Amino acid sequence: MVERSSFVVVANRLPVDEVISEDGERQWRPSPGGLVTALHPVLVEHRGTWIGWAGGDGEAPEPFELEGINIHPVPLSAQELERYYEGQSNATIWPLYHDAVETPVYKRRWREAYRLVNQRFARAAAEVAAEGATVWVQDYQLQQVPAMLRELRPDLRIGFFLHIPFPPIELFMQMPFRAEVLRGLLGSDLVGFQQRLAAQNFVRLARHLLGLRYEGHSIQVDGRKVKAGAFPISIDTADMERLAADPGVQARAKQIRAELGDPKTIILGVDRLDYTKGIELRLKAFRELLADGRLEVGDAVMVQVATPSRERVEHYQTLRVRVEREVGRINGEFSRVGVPAVHYLHQSMPKNELAALYVAADVMMVTPLRDGMNLVAKEYVACRSDQGGALVLSEFAGAATELRQSFLCNPHDPEGVKEALLRAVAAEPAELRRRMRVMQRHLRTHDVAAWARAFLRELGVDEDE
Ligand code: ADP
Ligand code: F6P
Repeated sequence: MVERSSFVVVANRLPVDEVISEDGERQWRPSPGGLVTALHPVLVEHRGTWIGWAGGDGEAPEPFELEGINIHPVPLSAQELERYYEGQSNATIWPLYHDAVETPVYKRRWREAYRLVNQRFARAAAEVAAEGATVWVQDYQLQQVPAMLRELRPDLRIGFFLHIPFPPIELFMQMPFRAEVLRGLLGSDLVGFQQRLAAQNFVRLARHLLGLRYEGHSIQVDGRKVKAGAFPISIDTADMERLAADPGVQARAKQIRAELGDPKTIILGVDRLDYTKGIELRLKAFRELLADGRLEVGDAVMVQVATPSRERVEHYQTLRVRVEREVGRINGEFSRVGVPAVHYLHQSMPKNELAALYVAADVMMVTPLRDGMNLVAKEYVACRSDQGGALVLSEFAGAATELRQSFLCNPHDPEGVKEALLRAVAAEPAELRRRMRVMQRHLRTHDVAAWARAFLRELGVDEDE
């Protein structure tokens, strides 16, 4: 008999990592992430359940409890992994919702797998949710879950949050199964987006595609009201500040600077290796500035951390080749023996090493062509308790709406990116402090817990409920 919960989170991934102990036993440990940190108190208070995929293919582990949360794994077969996750989610929806910066691929068998897997997640939620429970569905992989769940369990309160951008009508209309996706989302009571413009795109689309009436951000569907709103996600600011202030992290930051040859300017990029992140354009900007003599190797060094991501998807494979070719080209042309121009790390790393890099870097470059939010930008700001460092930030990242004191740039304009980078490199410490102070103040009040509270309040979940 499955234990029923009054609060259920449904997300593609579970907030756990599998570790194999020394005696070969399979164990689970919590995987650190902003979302689970923010929701942990609510989940514990409500004996909450998190439904998601545990990684890998084949049979899912049995449900288990970890640190007060019921973990309910959903299985994916190898074929579903290929069609639902790599195909429909990451080769169709992901590029389409990011302004089609890579061409979306449409395949009927992917769409069918997406529907089937969404149905499986919806059934799992219907099984574990108590009478009248709140279910919060996360992100673009699960857009059909809200309507499927409402069909099974009309008693539930259903929220949905989209972590990535929601495209304008003209782009959304490309999708062969557009009405299914929109109807799926409309199964929610509240649909949350990162940006106000995205919420507007959504309500206008509901009228355009399904002829539904709306007032403000509230859509009338089958005699129900579906609300849409903007809830910009954030980080656990206090936790990030604590980590950056740790003496071990501070010492490591100094060591990194020394290992890089104590250059005047360390320029840092930290991204999943994704074509939306603008890694190539950032490298090209750096190359051109070296070629023009406006930056010098030895004075300036670039560190690019690129986390391996979605490695079986073709767009990601070709991006890796392009990025690595560009890194090779820059190093070939500009490095000296023992003094590389670019340090490229295609690896994921522990949070404290990442924090040390943030503390060490003089300029952080966050230049996505389109990004729902971009938490790296917020993490960098939170780490700079010295109020040093400059953030170069794309106008096309959700974070740009909040971090107005960064050095904003248009990633489609190479000259603009170069100019923003040079301004950041040349800025006086007093100016940097002034900019950082304002952004840090904002992040202290707008952290991930505030984000979760705002969404749940709008959904009608009382804090003392
Ligand atoms: P996205 O969700 O598209 O990957 P975000 O910038 O919003 O982009 O979030 C990325 C998260 O992944 C951040 O919390 C960041 O600290 C973490 N991260 C990025 N690169 C690495 C890495 N190489 N190793 C470990 N964590 C990383
Ligand atoms: O921000 C979008 C997102 O898909 C998150 O949901 C996820 O944590 C991250 O990117 C990494 O993607 P994936 O789960 O495909 O590895």
